[in-house]
Amino acid sequence: MKNLLSMKDLTVEEIMSILKQAQLFREGASSQLKQDYTMANLFFEPSTRTKMSFEMAERKLHLNVLPFDAGFSSTLKGETLYDTVKTLESIGVDALVIRHEQNDFFNDLIGKVKPVIINGGDGTGNHPTQSLLDLLTIQQEFGTFKNKVISIVGDIAHSRVARSNADAFSRLGAKVNFVCPPNCNAEFEATYNIDEVIESSDVMMMLRVQHERHDGKSNFSKAEYHQQYGLTVEREKRMKENAIIMHPAPMNRDVEIASEIVECERSRIFKQMENGVFVRMAVIEMILKGRE
Ligand code: CP
Repeated sequence: MKNLLSMKDLTVEEIMSILKQAQLFREGASSQLKQDYTMANLFFEPSTRTKMSFEMAERKLHLNVLPFDAGFSSTLKGETLYDTVKTLESIGVDALVIRHEQNDFFNDLIGKVKPVIINGGDGTGNHPTQSLLDLLTIQQEFGTFKNKVISIVGDIAHSRVARSNADAFSRLGAKVNFVCPPNCNAEFEATYNIDEVIESSDVMMMLRVQHERHDGKSNFSKAEYHQQYGLTVEREKRMKENAIIMHPAPMNRDVEIASEIVECERSRIFKQMENGVFVRMAVIEMILKGRE
């Protein structure tokens, strides 16, 4: 693996190897990198979890991390992403994490720039490290993906998390259900009725309603959305005994998930965030080792 742009870049064997290494990092393993590397995290869309956990992962791997603030960069003077990356290449950066609002932003870079590119989220396209941390969380819970029923619920049309996970879950043998409002999906076979899946799912993966990508148009009030598509307190009680709740976050509390159940016994939402650090360590190490 030279770059990580999409889950489709990874074979099942590579996915399993990243999960294994992430678990070892979680249990205290140290970095095996032999050289001194410098990274930068270029976030052109807002982020708390992905940006901070990549930075934590880089520090735990003892890498040099150059700070980059898109809001004070020369992109505001019209510099292109390509010229920004070439500039960082010239300065001596080895690897970049990039989040950008443009789907497939990396097509302008791959094969033309030297730094490794790790996709931290491209528009509505891909979010591969979120998918990997979701996989690690599910593996820790059930030990396998085979025949597990995973229901992805919510604003699927705008979700790079849904797109990355749909591919990975299916390849690993899970059964994936999609549940969404009628105007929130044009890609997957879906049901509009969350109650059809609530009692049979091993994982209820709730997605954020991405208000910022809806052009201010919505067919629902927040309360109506919660009642019709949300994980309510009442629905949580009907989940299978060992079923878990996941959400990539940030969350709209009391919209896609009731605030009272965000930290309930079956919620793994904050464990997903913990796993994000270790999965990102494993991805960075695997890619940089390939260069040694
Ligand atoms: N899950 C996720 O990508 O969160 P951030 O947008 O805060 O990075």
